[in-house]
Amino acid sequence: MIEKFNTAQKLREEWNNQYEEEIHHTNNPVLDPPSIEKKYLKPIRQFIQQDNSFYFHDGVATVEVKVVSDEIIRVRLAPNSSFLKDFSYAVSNSTQHVDLFDLTEDDTSYRVRTNTVTCVIEKETALVSFVDRDGKVFSKDATPMHWEENADFGGYYVYNTKDAAPNESFFGLGDKPTHLNLRGKRLVNWNSDTYSFGFNRDPLYKSIPFYVGLKDGEAYGIFFDNTFKTYFDFAAEDPAKTSFWSEGGELQYYYIHGPAMEDVIKRYHLLTGTHYLPPKWALGYHQCRWSYYPEAKVRDLAKQFRDRKIPCDAIYLDIDYMDGYRCFTWNKKYFPDHKKMIADLSEDGFQTVVMIDPGIKVDENYWVYKEADKNNYFCRRGDDYFMEGYVWPGRCKFPDFTNPEVRKWWGGLYKDLVDSGVSGVWNDMNEPAVFGRGTFPNDVRHQFDGQRGSHRKAHNIYGMQMVRATYDGLKALLHGKRPFTITRAAYSGTQRYASVWTGDNVATWEHLKIGSLQLQRLAMSGLSFCGTDIGGFSGEPSAELFSRWLQFGVFSPFMRAHSAGDTAEREPWSFGEEYEAINRKFIELRYQLLSYIYTVFREHAVAGKPILKPLIMLEQSDDNHNREEEFSFGDKILVSPVLEDGQRVKTIYLPKGYWYDYWTHALMTGGEEHSIETPLDQMPMFIKAGTVLPINPIMQHVNEKVMDDLALNIYYLNGSLDSNLYEDDGESYAYENEYYIDKKFKLQGTETSLTVQQSREGRYHTPYTSYKIKLIGLPFNINKILVDNDSVDFEKDKDGSLHLVVGKGFDKIMVS
Ligand code: GLC
Repeated sequence: MIEKFNTAQKLREEWNNQYEEEIHHTNNPVLDPPSIEKKYLKPIRQFIQQDNSFYFHDGVATVEVKVVSDEIIRVRLAPNSSFLKDFSYAVSNSTQHVDLFDLTEDDTSYRVRTNTVTCVIEKETALVSFVDRDGKVFSKDATPMHWEENADFGGYYVYNTKDAAPNESFFGLGDKPTHLNLRGKRLVNWNSDTYSFGFNRDPLYKSIPFYVGLKDGEAYGIFFDNTFKTYFDFAAEDPAKTSFWSEGGELQYYYIHGPAMEDVIKRYHLLTGTHYLPPKWALGYHQCRWSYYPEAKVRDLAKQFRDRKIPCDAIYLDIDYMDGYRCFTWNKKYFPDHKKMIADLSEDGFQTVVMIDPGIKVDENYWVYKEADKNNYFCRRGDDYFMEGYVWPGRCKFPDFTNPEVRKWWGGLYKDLVDSGVSGVWNDMNEPAVFGRGTFPNDVRHQFDGQRGSHRKAHNIYGMQMVRATYDGLKALLHGKRPFTITRAAYSGTQRYASVWTGDNVATWEHLKIGSLQLQRLAMSGLSFCGTDIGGFSGEPSAELFSRWLQFGVFSPFMRAHSAGDTAEREPWSFGEEYEAINRKFIELRYQLLSYIYTVFREHAVAGKPILKPLIMLEQSDDNHNREEEFSFGDKILVSPVLEDGQRVKTIYLPKGYWYDYWTHALMTGGEEHSIETPLDQMPMFIKAGTVLPINPIMQHVNEKVMDDLALNIYYLNGSLDSNLYEDDGESYAYENEYYIDKKFKLQGTETSLTVQQSREGRYHTPYTSYKIKLIGLPFNINKILVDNDSVDFEKDKDGSLHLVVGKGFDKIMVS
C-alpha cells in the first residue's frame, strides 16, 4: 500500500519541483505592472436611472450603481461604457427586497439612498463612498476606479483603491493560512494544489474575493465578484489604503452594510446562498485515509469502531478503490463485491463516501473517456488541441464543467455508485490540479455557460462547477435523500453545493493552529461547512497532537480524520489505550452535541448564520482585533482549543456576559481573561448562561435507534435567553412539508426563580417521549417545581445539579 502511495506521491512531487523552477523566472504581470497607461474615472457629468440601477457617465466610462437591497449596493464599471452580460456563478439573487430608494443630487454629488445606506458619487473626483443614515463613512474610494487595457488578452486590468483607517482590520478571503486579521497583507486568489503548504502560503485551494472591514466597532463587507485572478492589498503597500484588482473581467463589487459583522456575513449569504441542511450523518465522525483497501481492510476498520465502541458514521474510499484511478470504475481485485460490502457497512451504520477527481484517463477502452470524447466534453486549448495533462491515472483529459450539458452528463455518471449504495462524494484535485505546471495553461477555452472564456476566467470556478454537477446529479439520483458532497477547490457560492476541507495539511502543532484560523476564516467567508484533515495529512502526529486535533475536530463543522498513505495508520485507537479513551470521549461528545449541532446547521441553512464565530464577531471591540483562538460554535458554545504541545493551563478570554465551564459547571464572568486547566482529556469549553442545551445519549452512529429520553441541560441566568432545538428525520426533504419540529425554549431567571417556556412549530414527531432535565447553577434553594402548574419530584445529583423527567410536550416549567 505504502509503495503504491509513494509512487503516486513521488510522481506529483517530481513534476511539481521541476515546474517550481520554471515559474520563479516568470514575471507576474500585475505585481510587476505592464507599462500601459492607467486610465481613471473622470468627473461625472450625467446619470440615467433604470429601475433600481443608476448609470453615471463621465463622457467615456460608465458606472452602474444598483440597489440590491436596503443594505447591499452593487457597483460596476464599464471602461468604454459597454457592460459585459450580467452573469455570475456566485450570486444567486442580485435583486432582493428593496423597500425604498431614491437619488438626490446637489452641486457636488449624487446620492443613491436606501433606508440603511447611501452611496455617494462625488461629481468632480468621481470617488464613491458608502455612508450610513447618520452620515458615518464606512468605505470610501481613495482614488477613482481605474483600469489598463490588456494588450495580450483584451479587456482590462481593473482596480479599486479605498481608504483604510489606521484602526481598521480586515477579515475573510476564504482559506488563507495566516492570521485572522489580514491588515498588512497582499493576497491573491488563484486556486492552487498546495500539498504540505506552510503558514502564510498564498494562494491555496479556494478563491473567495470577499472581505469584511471593521473599524470603531462597526463592520461592512466588500464582495468583488470576479472569477479572474484577483488581488487584495490590505494596507500593505500604503497603510492608508486598501485595494483590490483583477487581471480581467469587470470591476464589479457589492458593498454590504453591517454594522454587525454577523449581519454582513448573513447578507453575503443572501447573495451567494448557504449550505443546505445536510443529512445528519454528515455531522457525525468520519474516518478517512489514502487509502482503505482492500475490502477486508475496510471491513476490519468498521468492526474495530463498533467493537471498541467509538462512534463513526462514514468511511471514505480514496483513489485506490478505482481501477487504475479511472473515475466511476471499481478495482475488482480489491473490491470483488463492492455492493455487498457497502450494504453490509450500511447495515452496521456506516455510510460510504468515495473520491472522484476531474482528470479522465485517456484510454479508448474506458467508457467515461469514450462518452466524453464522442460528445466533445473535454476542454480544449486555444488552438483547438485537447487540454491534456498528467494526474493520478497518468495522461488525462478534463471535462469542461462550465458547460451545462457536461454538468448534466457528469451528474448522471454517479448512477452506478448511488445504485451501489454510496451516500457521499468527495471531489478533489479540482483547482484543477495538473502535475508539473500545477494547473491548466491560460489559453484553455471554456464554454462558461454560454459566456465563453479562457482559463483565465474559468480557473477559479472550475472546481465549483464540478462539484455543482456532482451535487445536482446526486440530488436527482438519491430519490429524496439529501446528498453529501465535499470539495477542495471553491469560489464564492460553492456552499450551495458542497462542504469543504482545507487540503493537504501537515501533522504539526503549527498546522493545528493554522487549521483553527482557516476554519474560522472560512465560516466568515460563506463556507461554514468546513473541516481540516484531523491529525494532519502528511507527517506523523504525536499521540497528544492527534488527541488535541480531534478535540478541535468536535468543534469543526466537518469532522474527519484523514492521512496520507506513507504515514503510520491513524485511527482513534492507534496511539494506545490512554489516548484511545480520550479520543473516544471526544468523539462521543460530538454525538452528545449532535442535536445542538444540527440546529446550528439549520440556522445556517435558513438564515445564513455562520456556524463558527471568531471572538471578534462576538465582541466587535478594537481590543479584540487580534484575538484568534476563542470562537463559538453557534451562539451557545464557546471554545478555545488547546493548540500547544504539553499545554496544561490555558488563558482564555470570555465575551461579556456569563458562561458555565462545561466540565465543572463553574459560573464564569465574561469580559475578562481566565486561566483554565487543560488536562489532556479536557479542552476549554463554555456554555452561555441561560442556554437550554440538548444532550443526546451516546450513540455509535446517528441512525442508531436509541430510545432514551433526550437530556436538556438548563443553565441558570439572572435574565432571559432563547434557545432553539430543530429536529426532523435527518435524511429526507420531508421538512419542506413541515415534517420538522422547531422548538423554542424561553428562559427567564430571577434571584429566586427560573422559568422555561417551550413553544413548538412543525409536525415532526421525535422518537423520544420525555426530557431528562438537569438544572445547573441555580443560586437559590428549591421549594417547588411546577410543570404546567403540576408539582413534580426532582433529585439532586452528585455535582449539585438537579434532575427531573418531564414529558416532551410541556409548555412551562417553573422553579422557585
Ligand atoms: C490529494 C488530496 C488528498 C487525497 C489524495 C489522494 O492530495 O488532497 O486528500 O488523499 O489527493 O487522492
